[in-house]
Amino acid sequence: MVSARPIDNALIEAELTRARARTLALVDCLTDGEQTEQVSRLMSPFVWDLAHIGNFEELWLLRELDGRPAIDPSYDDLYNAFEHPRWSRPSLPLLGPSEARAYDAKVRDEAIAVLRRADVRRRDEPGDDRSARLLSEGFVYGMVLQHEHQHGETLLATHQLRGERAIAPPGAGPPRPFVNDPLTPEEVLIDGGAFIMGTSDDPWAYDNERDAREVEVAPYFIDRLPVTNRMFLEFITDGGYDDERLWNAAGWQWRNENAVEHPEFWRPGGEGFTVLRFGRRLALGDLLDEPVQHVSWHEADAFVRWAGKRLPTEAEWEKAATWDPVAGTKRRYPWGDEQPTVEHANLGQRHIGPVTVGAYPLGASAYGVQGMIGDVWEWTSSDFVPYPGFEAFPYREYSEVFFGPEYKVLRGGSWATDRLAVRGTFRNWDFPIRRQIFSGFRGARSA
Ligand code: AVJ
Ligand code: FE
Repeated sequence: MVSARPIDNALIEAELTRARARTLALVDCLTDGEQTEQVSRLMSPFVWDLAHIGNFEELWLLRELDGRPAIDPSYDDLYNAFEHPRWSRPSLPLLGPSEARAYDAKVRDEAIAVLRRADVRRRDEPGDDRSARLLSEGFVYGMVLQHEHQHGETLLATHQLRGERAIAPPGAGPPRPFVNDPLTPEEVLIDGGAFIMGTSDDPWAYDNERDAREVEVAPYFIDRLPVTNRMFLEFITDGGYDDERLWNAAGWQWRNENAVEHPEFWRPGGEGFTVLRFGRRLALGDLLDEPVQHVSWHEADAFVRWAGKRLPTEAEWEKAATWDPVAGTKRRYPWGDEQPTVEHANLGQRHIGPVTVGAYPLGASAYGVQGMIGDVWEWTSSDFVPYPGFEAFPYREYSEVFFGPEYKVLRGGSWATDRLAVRGTFRNWDFPIRRQIFSGFRGARSA
């Protein structure tokens, strides 16, 4: 499997510009006061993410790559995610909205100058040193780009948590009309046997996606589409939130302590549920065929038990998404190796929300499974653990410090994820109680 697009300096520069335009669109729609206030203890003030994006870029593209001195040595502490928990960040002496923009712009100007001299077309060879590995096929630029886009998704989750006061940030593109595929068959049978999981040759893959290896799975069924609001409503109506047998012990405790009775941002009312989406209250009845989002792993786990199913493991998810059983090859995306277009998946903050399931028949996998990339992140049953032979690169704090049973893996990206920040092997993770992320799921069962 080879990446379809040639990586060169011009492509990286254009992508850096595109990422920054998106970041700024997400914050420029807010007043200065809104950018500095605390929206939720789960999130940073917008200005923290904004300057953190620049600080990460400075660390990797100016200091690590070019040996430059720190622009201001105090920033490394302020914008280090491990030094200060999110809830505490509003009390830090953070850069204000215009200072953060100026800092990011200064870093970016210098980073472009360094980029124009960099050799990003060479591929690393065994025994190469750290700086050659960082530059190999532009890896460190891919990392900085994905980082900025990941924080763009975080900024959107922060917008949504502003509740009634939230505004919808501008979409990243004009809406497109949707095709609606008939919604049957409900499940797809995936053959047992070996497939290739993970990647060894994707130049911008993270350490946690490496290396590719053969993994055996037993035959299973997987839902052709993500679970919709309509299906989730049936679970609620059937008493799913009140039936202890459907929940594991930690999930039942979480559900009780927080009196959870529906997905986050839903509200029951006389005429049924409404959904608060970027400050607008929508009738759930108008969203029934969209994938359910803002559910925790525990809610997903309870739903699939109610449906007589289970969550897919991440191996099962990845086989259904990336394996071509006829050719015996792995695809970078469900539809093939070509990078996502608007025809393949709901990605890139184009629509500022999920769309009707089945709207992207051209995004189907070789097995005919749909909607695996984009729309909503999909919870899997798997803990976030390293693949065999894992080696942290280039820093332990991206993946390694999070490995363990307390995090569950999500796959496939959401409508808020940029196309650069997701692929068939990409692994996201979060605590099983979290639901401010754009998370949904699909069911599976052993055949
Ligand atoms: C991979 C999405 C879990 O947002 O916490 C951002 C990505 N790492 N900055 C996160 C990340 C460093 C990370 N996730
Ligand atoms: Fe970060």
